[in-house]
Amino acid sequence: MAEITLESVQDPGIGVSMKTVVNAAELREVVAGWRRDNLRIALVPTMGALHAGHLSLVDAARRHADRVVVSIFVNPTQFGPEEDLDLYPRTPSEDARRLAETGCDLLFLPTPEVLYPPGHSVTVEPGTAAEGLEGEHRPGHFRGVATVVTLLFNLAQPDVAVFGRKDAQQLAVIEQLVRDLHLPITIVAGETVREDDGLAMSSRNRYLDAAERRAATVLWRSLSGAQRLIAAGERDADLVRARLLEVLTSEPLVRVDYVEVVDTQTFRPVLEITAPVVVPIAVFLGTTRLIDNLALAPASAE
Ligand code: PAF
Repeated sequence: MAEITLESVQDPGIGVSMKTVVNAAELREVVAGWRRDNLRIALVPTMGALHAGHLSLVDAARRHADRVVVSIFVNPTQFGPEEDLDLYPRTPSEDARRLAETGCDLLFLPTPEVLYPPGHSVTVEPGTAAEGLEGEHRPGHFRGVATVVTLLFNLAQPDVAVFGRKDAQQLAVIEQLVRDLHLPITIVAGETVREDDGLAMSSRNRYLDAAERRAATVLWRSLSGAQRLIAAGERDADLVRARLLEVLTSEPLVRVDYVEVVDTQTFRPVLEITAPVVVPIAVFLGTTRLIDNLALAPASAE
């Protein structure tokens, strides 16, 4: 059995204490104690480099449970071979301080060997919501997400798990996973938190140089343009896609990966906007890939 080492992060300013655990046995021990006390447990899975968007998920978790576990794990299996796994920002001390201040009760900070010990070979194949968009442009990404989220669910045994709407397709993939595998977990969706100029908060925003950061405002401009079009009664999804593309490509630093108008549940492209849709976009700014989306409803479906 792994050695048990429980650390505490004390925040003298607000008198909050948060435990940090690094292996599965430690996590199970703390969670089992809470279960014996009939406490409701929420899990917020993250990859760290926390920003206000993540902290709002922790706030949401606190509203739905008595105890909040946050995991920080940069999951190698959801990165493609050409992606930014090695560069991905890792700021565990700063993250721990912010989590302690936000009222997280337990930080789970596993190493890759804890979640994927030598010989680990079982993966979780996501369902149809993983087809297209991120699933198509990042092959294997959602298998990695579904696998690590299932591992985290099994270890933390949460009643509730919170995921951000910023990764709208990931949220649909997890909702489908929980539904199809009959997992007794309620999925709570956290709203996207935006900078003052509309840019969705993302750990990857810190890769942007000053010019790219200015150019990144085009994502929100394109999405709010689509919002205005649909609110004005536009039902032709191709026309909305074309308008998004026009706005995005007006910014010379942007290379568009995809723009779509998809069904909220299936994440399949729609032709006519007669029911609520999600408008997801993915672009490159230099080598940084950013995604964003808006859920929109035609006036009659609101
Ligand atoms: O959204 C993320 O940060 C990750 O995909 C998640 C859900 C923590 C799984 O690694």
